[in-house]
Amino acid sequence: MTTGSTEKEAETRCLHPGFPTIFEKSKPGRSSVATADEPVFDAGEFDGYLRDVPAELPEVAEVDLMRHFIGLSNRNFGVDNGFYPLGSCTMKYNPKINDVTSNLPGFTDLHPYQDAEDCQGALVLLKDVETILCSVFGMDAFTLQPAAGAHGEFTSLLLFKKYFQSRGEEHRVEMLIPDSAHGTNPASAAMAGFKTVEVKSNDRGLVDVDSVKEKLSDATAGIMMTNPNTLGLFEEDVCEISKLVHDAGGLLYYDGANANAISEIVRPGDMGFDAIHLNLHKTFSTPHGGGGPGSGPVGVKKNLEPFLPNPRIDVREDGLLDFVDLPGSIGRMKMYYGNFLVVIRAYTYLRMLGAAGLKRMSEIAVLNANYLRVKISKFLEVPYNRTCMHEFVASADKLTTETGVRTLDIAKALLDYRVHPPTVYFPLIVREALMIEPTESESKETLDNFVEVMKAIVEKAHEDPDWLKDAPHYTPVRRLDDVLAARHPDVCFTGWGICE
Ligand SMILES: Cc1ncc(COP(=O)(O)O)c(C=O)c1O
Repeated sequence: MTTGSTEKEAETRCLHPGFPTIFEKSKPGRSSVATADEPVFDAGEFDGYLRDVPAELPEVAEVDLMRHFIGLSNRNFGVDNGFYPLGSCTMKYNPKINDVTSNLPGFTDLHPYQDAEDCQGALVLLKDVETILCSVFGMDAFTLQPAAGAHGEFTSLLLFKKYFQSRGEEHRVEMLIPDSAHGTNPASAAMAGFKTVEVKSNDRGLVDVDSVKEKLSDATAGIMMTNPNTLGLFEEDVCEISKLVHDAGGLLYYDGANANAISEIVRPGDMGFDAIHLNLHKTFSTPHGGGGPGSGPVGVKKNLEPFLPNPRIDVREDGLLDFVDLPGSIGRMKMYYGNFLVVIRAYTYLRMLGAAGLKRMSEIAVLNANYLRVKISKFLEVPYNRTCMHEFVASADKLTTETGVRTLDIAKALLDYRVHPPTVYFPLIVREALMIEPTESESKETLDNFVEVMKAIVEKAHEDPDWLKDAPHYTPVRRLDDVLAARHPDVCFTGWGICE
């Protein structure tokens, strides 16, 4: 077997000097595992299923295998190797104790079809998480089934639908959604069969009460609100809006993706919300990014509880916990009982912090964001520049007019300073937006360093804008076509003719 030498390969090698693919490192006969001397099964049993020729796998020693994967991970950016102020994503540090607990064999060796008698510990843990979340967010019941925030939104809206069906109010088909909402809100509403109706923000960046009044009608099914909203501002009129929507016969949905700003300080249930989703993979410190697994539990008030996804956990007559099905349920939203190991991570975090720790988490998230807002607003515009919650939105609009350097250029340049870019061009109501969320797990030194880096980039924009437009300069790959890279990733090694 030879490694081919196409033009493309040569190009790849130039782009990655000193970083050959694992296929190129391969040498026939090398191995990272010890194989048995004797065959471990009778090949005859698998007649017709065996390969005619061995699979074309790289053959490398353990040391090279290890260097290959560590090398790959070093070329990536993660919250474990740098500051990651990705607004609305809450990329906070995930304590490693979470991985210790979720890797305990008593959990990892459980089978989802195991009898309830054999997994009481796991059921108690799930039930405990539901109970803690009810208490922290002021809801009556929680389901841990949804696999992500957007999945939680969709689940909640199906609950709304079932609720209106149960009352013979199928004419309620309109879902009010603020223009500052995260894109998943209108998408979930449309998927659940609602018509989306946009509600305007006012000049303070908050949901405009008059716009809500104007849009309410007999057709209103409810409103989806994010609080704090995606500008990082607390919706001060939330109680008035809640009353207006309820008086009109609608329900209130709380996008709780930003719950690290409010935990143990104020409760969505007390603001009048009927349903809420949380992102355990943000607020409660379980890893995220890269597509999962996540967890988007949904909490509801009593009016929606009968419709929660099956199965629920309840106490049997003999006192043990077991799964039960509700007759009015919207059905199952995910296989088994949600992403159990993610829930264990969140449980560990919740139990380690306790109520006082959660409150401190929220206070520091808000303090850190305001510290950065004040410092950064000295050299970059912050359109709604007043006390924020866990994040704030800056704008490079003026800088673009003065220098031609856009938000995207700033984002790319940050990578050269080993800082992950903030969320860019969102929310849509701010031009050239940079949405910055430092999170509660960062030190003052890290925040100060970020301020210095941002300041240096803004100064560079005036001195040498072309350098910024060409950034990043020092990353393993330079400026990629983001859409092409996401939609058509070129990850195949073609050297052995495998992918051709
Ligand atoms: C405000 C808000 N809502 C909903 C979501 C969706 O969450 P998920 O990515 O887990 O589906 C996000 C994710 O970034 C968000 O920031």
